[in-house]
Amino acid sequence: MAKRITVELCMGSSCFARGNSEILQAVENYLAEKGLSDSVELVGHLCLGRCKEGPNLRIDGTDYSAITPEEAIAHIAKALEE
Ligand code: FES
Repeated sequence: MAKRITVELCMGSSCFARGNSEILQAVENYLAEKGLSDSVELVGHLCLGRCKEGPNLRIDGTDYSAITPEEAIAHIAKALEE
């Protein structure tokens, strides 16, 4: 069975303003292009409490901060391989 991961994107106002709006778009496009919607559960989060380090992303419980859309996609691709 294919691996399934959970990606939590902080949708708090600080992270959203710092770039998570672009990251959300990029991740949604990536999942659609690669047909990964069944492998990745994408959920929005309210503030994760680390606004100054944003934009923040959590993949299966591991937090990533100050990420770019490219880095977010790379982390997701890596998590799917592991
Ligand atoms: S808004 Fe994302 S950590 Fe606070």
